[in-house]
Amino acid sequence: MLHVKLICFLLFLAGVNLVACSSGGSDDRFVYSGFTGRNLTLDGAAVITRTGLLELTNGTLRKKAHAIHPVQFHFRSPSASSTAAARSFSTSFVFGILCPDADACGHGIVFFVAPSEYNFAAAFPSQYLGLFNNISNGDAANHIFGVELDTDQNNEFRDIDGNHVGVDINSLNSIEASSAGYYDDSNDHGFHNLTLASHEAKQVWVDYNGTSKQINVAMAPLRTAKPARPLLSCTYDLSTVLLTDKPYMVGFSSATGSFDSKHYVLGWSFAMDGSAPPIDIDKLPKLPRFAPKKRPKLVEIIPPIATAALIVAVGIVSFLLIRRRMRYTELREDWEVEFGPHRFSYKDLLHATDGFKSKNLIGAGGFGRVYKGVLPLSKSEIAVKKVSHDSKQGMKEFIAEVVSIGRLQHRNLVQLLGYCRRKGELLLVYDYMSNGSLDKHLYSDKQILGWGQRFQIIKGIASALLYLHEEWEKVIIHRDIKTSNVLLDSEMNSRLGDFGLARLYDRGEDPQTTHVVGTIGYLAPELGRSSKATPLTDIFAFGIFILEVTCGRRPIVQAPQGGEDQRNPVLLVDWVLEHWHDGSITDTVDAKLHGNYNIDEVCLVLKLGLLCAHPLSNARPTIRQVIKYLNGDMAMPDLTPTHQSFETLTLMQNQGFDSYVMSSYPSSMASTSTISNLSAQK
Ligand SMILES: Nc1ncnc2c1ncn2[C@@H]1O[C@H](COP(=O)(O)OP(=O)(O)O)[C@@H](O)[C@H]1O
Ligand SMILES: *[C@@H]1O[C@H](CO)[C@@H](O)[C@H](O)[C@H]1NC(C)=O
Ligand SMILES: *[C@@H]1O[C@H](CO)[C@@H](O)[C@H](O)[C@H]1NC(C)=O
Ligand SMILES: *[C@@H]1O[C@H](CO)[C@@H](O)[C@H](O)[C@H]1NC(C)=O
Ligand SMILES: *[C@@H]1O[C@H](CO)[C@@H](O)[C@H](O)[C@H]1NC(C)=O
Ligand SMILES: *[C@@H]1O[C@H](CO)[C@@H](O)[C@H](O)[C@H]1NC(C)=O
Repeated sequence: MLHVKLICFLLFLAGVNLVACSSGGSDDRFVYSGFTGRNLTLDGAAVITRTGLLELTNGTLRKKAHAIHPVQFHFRSPSASSTAAARSFSTSFVFGILCPDADACGHGIVFFVAPSEYNFAAAFPSQYLGLFNNISNGDAANHIFGVELDTDQNNEFRDIDGNHVGVDINSLNSIEASSAGYYDDSNDHGFHNLTLASHEAKQVWVDYNGTSKQINVAMAPLRTAKPARPLLSCTYDLSTVLLTDKPYMVGFSSATGSFDSKHYVLGWSFAMDGSAPPIDIDKLPKLPRFAPKKRPKLVEIIPPIATAALIVAVGIVSFLLIRRRMRYTELREDWEVEFGPHRFSYKDLLHATDGFKSKNLIGAGGFGRVYKGVLPLSKSEIAVKKVSHDSKQGMKEFIAEVVSIGRLQHRNLVQLLGYCRRKGELLLVYDYMSNGSLDKHLYSDKQILGWGQRFQIIKGIASALLYLHEEWEKVIIHRDIKTSNVLLDSEMNSRLGDFGLARLYDRGEDPQTTHVVGTIGYLAPELGRSSKATPLTDIFAFGIFILEVTCGRRPIVQAPQGGEDQRNPVLLVDWVLEHWHDGSITDTVDAKLHGNYNIDEVCLVLKLGLLCAHPLSNARPTIRQVIKYLNGDMAMPDLTPTHQSFETLTLMQNQGFDSYVMSSYPSSMASTSTISNLSAQK
């Protein structure tokens, strides 16, 4: 009986012993293949995800994280004396670091062994990896051992590169470091680089041999056996770091600093006095897919690209439509319906003139630019005058007038074909005159107009003026007769252009600021006082015009033939008058004619010019009389050069000229820039 009891007792003792041994062993080791349901002490950004990943950081900047095993360890034998060496230990873990940009990735993960009372609160969430700060780094009082996986090169820690593994004692200035990689057992221990932040999980082994004081660190891609040759190996007696009889915590620390990076631990095992138990790789949770940059999967990139392409396409199409609409927009109002047939579409004009290209620009006058064009349908040549006009005021009346002008048809008028209206812009469409404006012919040396042609031109314009003043339903005043408004068609017929346009600027203005419309040199003196255009103001301009055609000189000329002051400008009328006085009127005829002219016609025209440009409006002939004189149907009134009225009135004319020079003047319509000189010198 006693014997049996003894055996039972012994068995009991052995059982107790067995239990004690096994319980002691399981306390000193653990293995986590995934962290689902595990009781880690987490702090900072650290969480355990639903899939069982230990997520230290999630990409948020300037975050630190700590994950600590709940049970603490004694690294020096509790029973032994204070001289007892630090015990051997071994750990292994699988980690992953995910960064959108591998070149800007920070800062890393560190496995640490730290005193249980160590306070992480003061640690910096930056290159200090959530472990130290600028003061505590390197402090021997830390009693911390660590292995860092550092994805950033920090000069203050004398980091070797931006992708290294290091052994840390109390400091991030590693006592030993190496670029991340491994020695491949299957390939003659050749070295392979590894990129810590490669988005692929890797395994790390850390072993400390308490006898030899050897620290070995190895790493390898997942599912690769622990390399026989460690990446790092150094000798350091951890007894100088880890204190006697003090509990130590083991865990991971991480920090992002100013980088968008995510740090994960997938599995972890640890053992005191032995090898870390193997991690079951098959049970590990998966790393999240991290918007991969290098080899994006088609499925992932097609939808956003398609969406973006669609948005861009819609944008371009609507931009083109809007631009097209803008390009072609016209102003069209109800009252214009009746003028429909005279209305051109802007689109047609745009096509006709090649989009108003500068190569089609044929001239720029006081009112706007003139472009040559060819109508798409009829293929007829047109001249399009773009007049900028902002005010709506008087527009209806003006258009009505333009349209009625369009009904004017005379062989010596430039035919107005129609108009088009846009915001702030009026386009007038005329027949194209292939020989351009008269002034170009008069003042160029290329083709000299003979006297016969000049006389025909004068007669043609007189005929046009008769039509406007007397033969149409109502009196039309041209207001801007001058050589540049006389155009020559393909048969060198003279045609008066621009009629009625002056009214656009003359109408609806404040009477206080009424502008004189017309061109300096052609303006009758009374316009300076009343600014009221009459048929006789047209006659005045016609007078100047025929003198200009005969003499080949501008209405205002620099003092000719040496004489007194070279720079003193002289009115063409005065100059001709002077020669008439002196009996040398034929000297005023254009020298380019070389005397090839009918002297009677020339004298007739010069005298008629003087008569038409008479300063007193009631002394001027009507256009019907002008025509009769020109055709020789009626004799000119016999005005001798010494005729009293002429002498006195020449003076008046000059004064009159002065007075309208002084009046407010749209400078854009001035054809000479010497106005101020003129008035100053008189
Ligand atoms: N119907 C047309 N056919 C051909 N050329 C024209 C026509 N209308 C105008 N031009 C050219 O455009 C220039 C400027 O015209 P315009 O604006 O009438 O001048 P301005 O305002 O000085 O009278 C003219 O000198 C002429 O060369
Ligand atoms: C990341 O974690 C922080 C807390 O540490 C939280 O405020 C943030 O919303 C998280 N971001 C994401 C994308 O989960
Ligand atoms: C987790 O660990 C902490 C600290 O070690 C402990 O207080 C807590 O009771 C543990 N919880 C569970 C569910 O084990
Ligand atoms: C440590 O960092 C803090 C905060 O960045 C700074 O105020 C302090 O001056 C630093 N101290 C040293 C010694 O660099
Ligand atoms: C490993 O990387 C380092 C630095 O990036 C480079 O100098 C070295 O040549 C690489 N070695 C191999 C085997 O790729
Ligand atoms: C530790 O080092 C000693 C002496 O070099 C050696 O005998 C022993 O096998 C090592 N222990 C382990 C677990 O490698």
